[in-house]
Amino acid sequence: MSLVIPSIEALVPYEGGKPVEELERELGITGAVKLASNENPLGPSPRALEAARATLAQIHRYPDGVAFGLREAIARFHGVRRDEVLQGAGSNELLDLVVRTFATREHHVVFGEPAFVVYRLASLVYGVPFTAVPLENLVHDLPAMAAAVTPKTRVVFVANPNNPTGTYVGRAAVEQFLRAVPPEVIVVMDEAYFEYADAPDYPSSLALRHLRDRLLVMRTFSKAYGLAGLRVGYTIGPAPLIDYMNRVRAPFNTSVPGQAAAVAALDDQAHVEESRRMNSAERVRLTQALEGMGLAVAPSQANFILVDLARPARPVYDGLLERGVIVRPFGNLPTSLRVTCGLPRENDRFLAALAEVLV
Ligand SMILES: Cc1ncc(COP(=O)(O)O)c(C=O)c1O
Repeated sequence: MSLVIPSIEALVPYEGGKPVEELERELGITGAVKLASNENPLGPSPRALEAARATLAQIHRYPDGVAFGLREAIARFHGVRRDEVLQGAGSNELLDLVVRTFATREHHVVFGEPAFVVYRLASLVYGVPFTAVPLENLVHDLPAMAAAVTPKTRVVFVANPNNPTGTYVGRAAVEQFLRAVPPEVIVVMDEAYFEYADAPDYPSSLALRHLRDRLLVMRTFSKAYGLAGLRVGYTIGPAPLIDYMNRVRAPFNTSVPGQAAAVAALDDQAHVEESRRMNSAERVRLTQALEGMGLAVAPSQANFILVDLARPARPVYDGLLERGVIVRPFGNLPTSLRVTCGLPRENDRFLAALAEVLV
């Protein structure tokens, strides 16, 4: 008999983007570029870096378990109460925590397909039945997701913008969805790429909290704030939900340098703005260049693009690796690759390598 439940037995470990060091070691090269994990190519805010550095003499101490200063700064930034904010080791931990806190094997979860893989992973780990609702034209089909809710459904996850497609759902559709899902269900709006979205009708779910009580909005310091390596994210929601998740989370889930860097990063909106500006310009440039090569690119509001090569993507991925460019393949999108918008020269390198591989 297996030591674990069948859905854990069937799991394969999460595979992130290939590390630069690993590729360089394998190929005996230097100067590889990684466009695989949707990181900020400009790096962290210098102020965040300095704040993290200033804590290093204190890292023999446990962090503030309740992350008081960080939650206070987030609450002030968004104009919410501190008891409506919960910190996490990346938003990843908080997504997992939602399932762990609110759903059991007797319940049910809904998410899109393809969407961020952690929704499925968490459901499998805790043995919670789920419905993965296919995207329509690479966009979340919110009416179909609302229709997939059953009396057993506890949580519905929506990534907006979505990963790996980069696509978004507009304000009218989100408003309708938030009203349509029964009030007892927890809707999670995962806005990891919020800062990069610039479509006029892209909605901040924080501005839609009046539409339903059970709404959790997820944000992260890993993307536009450039702190992926420190693992800090947060969720904002009604105090009773935050209270339950706070009881379940690991005791010291965000680190001493992580908390300090995140507070300083929040205070450096100029860095976020610069990151956003560069990303918007490079997203357009990459999209146009790829379309110029006859490839289909999903319209992205994030810091990456999904390009359909109309041929098996794996050999193209391998060809790019051989040229020192790391992007991201997906098993469930066999002809597509996800490419993070990097620095202009990194994107040039990717485009040149792709042109070589595709001949
Ligand atoms: C949609 C989405 N949500 C959440 C995350 C988790 O990010 P983190 O745990 O670094 O905050 C990611 C990371 O890629 C993502 O794409």
